[in-house]
Amino acid sequence: MHVARKLDSIRTLETERGSTAIAYNPGTMTDPLPAVERAMAAFRRRVRGRPLMAYEKCREVLHDMRVVASEVFGGTPEGWAMADGHTATVDRIADSLAEHFGRVATVVSTDSEHVGGIGAFSADKRFVVRQVPPEQLADTAADIYFLSHVTYDTNHDNSDVIRALTRRADDPIVIIDGNQAVGQIDVDVAALGCHVYITSSHKWLGGPHGGGLLYLRSDVVEQWPSPFRAGDPLVPDLPIGRWEPRGGQDFSRVAGIAAAVRAYQVHATSGRPIREQFIQALQRALGDRVHPITASTAEGRVVAFELVGIDVYPVYRELAERGLSIKCIKKPGKRAESGDGCLEVLRVGFPWWTDAEQVDDAVAILTEVVDGVTPASVSASGRRRRWRGRSLGGPPAPATVPEAAPVAAGGDA
Ligand SMILES: Cc1ncc(COP(=O)(O)O)c(C=O)c1O
Repeated sequence: MHVARKLDSIRTLETERGSTAIAYNPGTMTDPLPAVERAMAAFRRRVRGRPLMAYEKCREVLHDMRVVASEVFGGTPEGWAMADGHTATVDRIADSLAEHFGRVATVVSTDSEHVGGIGAFSADKRFVVRQVPPEQLADTAADIYFLSHVTYDTNHDNSDVIRALTRRADDPIVIIDGNQAVGQIDVDVAALGCHVYITSSHKWLGGPHGGGLLYLRSDVVEQWPSPFRAGDPLVPDLPIGRWEPRGGQDFSRVAGIAAAVRAYQVHATSGRPIREQFIQALQRALGDRVHPITASTAEGRVVAFELVGIDVYPVYRELAERGLSIKCIKKPGKRAESGDGCLEVLRVGFPWWTDAEQVDDAVAILTEVVDGVTPASVSASGRRRRWRGRSLGGPPAPATVPEAAPVAAGGDA
């Protein structure tokens, strides 16, 4: 990834490796990167008590956010808007589309969508939704196609399906849920050719919660009705300004999003080596008891896997107790690669700030849990191994937990 020219409002970022905790399923329960928190705090400090300057600074950082988003995720700066999180933003896009159509519109989607995406259409009487396997999408007639760039369950990359739709002569409306793709794999919205691309910033970018990015194709910016009503656009002279949340926002989030994208641009490398390191080590340790799902994009930062003959949920709970936070997906009625009748996978993700040692830690703990806590896996002090958070400055995280640690809640973002 190339490092572009310096943008004044985006603070220089030190390396983020070695931050205190890592979530192997970045999401709603995880903290933004320290550099992001610093950028937000610095923005607030700069504008506190100076309302006029606040708006000025806001426009400045918004400009830089558009520039860095277009450099990293394609398109032009004028196509990128600051947004709320994915769920709130897709709701607004659905509202805009309903107004644009002025009649009941048919939405065709895949059978692996997150409710924080497809729900915007399926819960709205102005749409009729049909869900089909991704390979049938292009052959199913629709007014609107809605799908994830990378699916949240098996981490399948739908780029080819998206391009097949957007290259059709009839130019159907294509809305993309980029929540699992942005910060995980390379994204180029112009190459995808979609009308709308949406992402939250708090997942693979380690950005602020409740904020995100919205990309709109230039014809959409001009022609579709903006879902915003109250207040004046912060940037009235650019058409994309009409598409941005207005007053009452925590505008330091813009600085946080810009910093998160910048950090990714400057520091991230391909997810493939770390992914392969994990798969190989896991297979060495567990042999044919583990079955990685091959649909998961090889370029990505996620390994989804089945545990042959083992219920994944108790494993997930035990991992959570030991500080290893991953994702557990059990979906009845959908066949997994090696199972029958149910998709039952664990999903481990390695955001760009993960290092090789943290991958080894994840494998060691996972192996121990799958094996059951055997005498060999209990340390001399009689305590179970726990994920060791590394820290640059603060006190080190405890290396062990007492045998009778309280049961952690099984929440999953
Ligand atoms: C693919 C996908 N879409 C949408 C959402 C909902 O996103 P948010 O909670 O950021 O609004 C998620 C959350 O995990 C997701 O994975």
